[in-house]
Amino acid sequence: MNANQIKVPFVDLNLQHQPIQTKIERAIAEVIERGDFVLGQALSEFETAFAEACGVKYAVGVASGTDAISIGLQACGIVPGDEVIVPSNTFIASVIGIIQAGAKPILAECDRNTALIDLAAAAKLITPQTKAIVPVHLYGQMVSPTQLLDFADTHNLIIFEDSAQAHLAETEGYRAGGVGKAAGFSFYPSKNLGAFGNGGMIITNDESVAQKMRSLRNYGAPKKYFHTELGTNSRLDTLQAAILNLKLPHLSSWNQQRNQAAQYYDRLLQPLKERDIFPITNLTGVGHVYHLYIIRLNSHLAIKRELIQQKMAARGIQTGIHYPIPCHLQPAYRYLGYQKGDFPEAETLCQNVLSLPMYPGITKAQIELVIEELSTIIDILQK
Ligand SMILES: Cc1ncc(COP(=O)(O)O)c(C=O)c1O
Repeated sequence: MNANQIKVPFVDLNLQHQPIQTKIERAIAEVIERGDFVLGQALSEFETAFAEACGVKYAVGVASGTDAISIGLQACGIVPGDEVIVPSNTFIASVIGIIQAGAKPILAECDRNTALIDLAAAAKLITPQTKAIVPVHLYGQMVSPTQLLDFADTHNLIIFEDSAQAHLAETEGYRAGGVGKAAGFSFYPSKNLGAFGNGGMIITNDESVAQKMRSLRNYGAPKKYFHTELGTNSRLDTLQAAILNLKLPHLSSWNQQRNQAAQYYDRLLQPLKERDIFPITNLTGVGHVYHLYIIRLNSHLAIKRELIQQKMAARGIQTGIHYPIPCHLQPAYRYLGYQKGDFPEAETLCQNVLSLPMYPGITKAQIELVIEELSTIIDILQK
């Protein structure tokens, strides 16, 4: 389909960028003039602003959300041989981050309604080697902070929040990234706060952890040419930081627009409940930042999901699947020893989910069109 046949794209970044384009160009020009492309002024400014926005003391910019998890876990003291619990229903980077930190990922089941980690199921996975849990605030919804803190307290675990999809999400008086010892964010372009390329951030309230993060991202050197640990090269580019810093003041309003769009979707989807088609449950109300808006199809339609997507695309509407295969069934991770049937809820979700267009600026008319076309297609397929 060519671009002008698309009536509702899956994501529309131009809507965010056009109003601030001149400012962005100026910010880029300033970095070019200063020439401080690595660990420059705009990075420090953005780190300060992002930490403040998240309500924590320290933020350390890294090259990606994946590196944020890996470096963040190492800075929290995770070492090879440690076991780290993570949900199977997540983007694979949550697992990669743990493996890159040298630890063993222990995959856990998810809750059928929220698609978030099932802490009761996770409790059964604890061994003497379990050192941390990486809850994923998936699709923009936080895992309950009180339940998480209780879980970590009971089992004496570090919490490292994967907040890649949940910038400024809130619930129970907590903000994403402010619950555990540290947290990682992604600035992949389509994220709620997105760079013009890759980028990530690790946040913490612990000064010594922050220092270790800064050292690890910079060749393990607390000062130039003095290497005290096995670090890596993973800095958030100054150019990206300058762009992100300009976008940050808009983030709350963009998140609100996402939440309002989701509420409208919820309303229009009511009639489809009779057909056993539901949005993922929102337990966090206006604190849900809806990185993605996801519905679960009934089992009859789930088998025809690809056809539904094709038919939607033919009508000018782009959709997605997040995610088609749970982490425990990904071929590269067979060595971890998991099998089909190990996490039935995650497996069923992966078969049933369908992601609808979601971005700040999506109009009511566009949401109406999505649901109208979806309902028509479902009518045809269920006959
Ligand atoms: C839940 C989750 N964790 C981690 C990541 C990794 O972030 P990045 O792509 O910036 O490495 C992503 C995004 O891609 C994600 O969605």
